[in-house]
Amino acid sequence: MPRIALFAGDGIGPEVIAEAVKALRAVEGRSGETFEFVPLAIGGDALDRFGLPIRQSDIDLAGNADAALLGAVGGPAWDAVEPALRPERGLLQIRHALGLFANLRPVHVLPALVQNSPLRAEIVEHVDLLVVRELTGGIYFGRPSRRWVSARGRSAVDTLRYRDDEIERVVRLAYELARTRRGRLTSVDKSNVLRTSQLWREVVDELREEYADVETEHILVDAMAMHLIQNPGRFDVIVTENMFGDILTDEASVLSGSIGLLPSASLSDKVGMQPGTRYGLYEPIHGSAPDLAGKGRANPAGAILSGAMLLRWSLGMPDLARKIEQAVSNVIASGVRTIDIAERDVAAVSTAEFGDEVVRHVTERGAATRITSPAE
Ligand code: IPM
Ligand code: MN
Repeated sequence: MPRIALFAGDGIGPEVIAEAVKALRAVEGRSGETFEFVPLAIGGDALDRFGLPIRQSDIDLAGNADAALLGAVGGPAWDAVEPALRPERGLLQIRHALGLFANLRPVHVLPALVQNSPLRAEIVEHVDLLVVRELTGGIYFGRPSRRWVSARGRSAVDTLRYRDDEIERVVRLAYELARTRRGRLTSVDKSNVLRTSQLWREVVDELREEYADVETEHILVDAMAMHLIQNPGRFDVIVTENMFGDILTDEASVLSGSIGLLPSASLSDKVGMQPGTRYGLYEPIHGSAPDLAGKGRANPAGAILSGAMLLRWSLGMPDLARKIEQAVSNVIASGVRTIDIAERDVAAVSTAEFGDEVVRHVTERGAATRITSPAE
């Protein structure tokens, strides 16, 4: 019986996770399995209940499950908390502890939402890219990381550090993924300034011969920020370090029409039960959106699609993943939309209504099975 750890987290996290669970339950019957959901605590939720942004016992429980699904962490309620206990620490800690080194963030534009992007239709309509963000190294984890006061004033330091093997494993995965897609890899760095980026580029260049069937290019991160909105359709797989990936994926989410739509998978190299599967933690890329929390206004699509990625990457159930992806796409195309992507003059539905509609499409007999959106 596949076990799925659930970290609802903070803000809109619990609302969107509830809808993701509904969608997974809706396809469960077809899988021939029963999913066991294990609710665990992270972020401000864990801090309030247990005094820590995540407990080691919950990390262990999540690591022993087949996969984990997470909502979001953080919010103004915990702004004054000391840095080591901030809700975000819980997320960084579990990513690190479970070796979730590769964060896959697919971005494509549903035909029905081409008009929702602030960019012109001809710029966004052919976007189908996958950002592979290194997730357990770089400046979010480097030591020292601290601040101090001296006679000259307040200072702070963070450390950006990478080892070649940390770069190699994520670049390899990106190459493997490029092979299953359009065979193009864009590596993003800041090698005109940073030593870590020079090492990054060197490692990519060492690997590129092994993957000669994939076309490799290097782009500096500042230029990349520009290309992403000028000509996003030219990219296939983009691989980059932790912080650049964090920033560029928020930017890329704008292409899709709403950050609420985008899922992600954070994969480790721990193999799963089915061939080709791995352990992973799945989460929408949006944050906890405290201003929307508890109002039923959040878009659960990113969380539901994260559930689909979970089925594909950790449980080896790609057909069911596609079923959910197709349902989300059909629901949006039918005009049933949350406020962030609502059509003019059409009332927005609530978070739960959107989820219900996805369930209805998934369970409907003979529901459309044509695949209009690329899966990853
Ligand atoms: C994300 C988030 C996290 C990150 C924060 C909450 C630690 O922004 O998943 O992109 O920076 O990785
Ligand atoms: Mn982020």
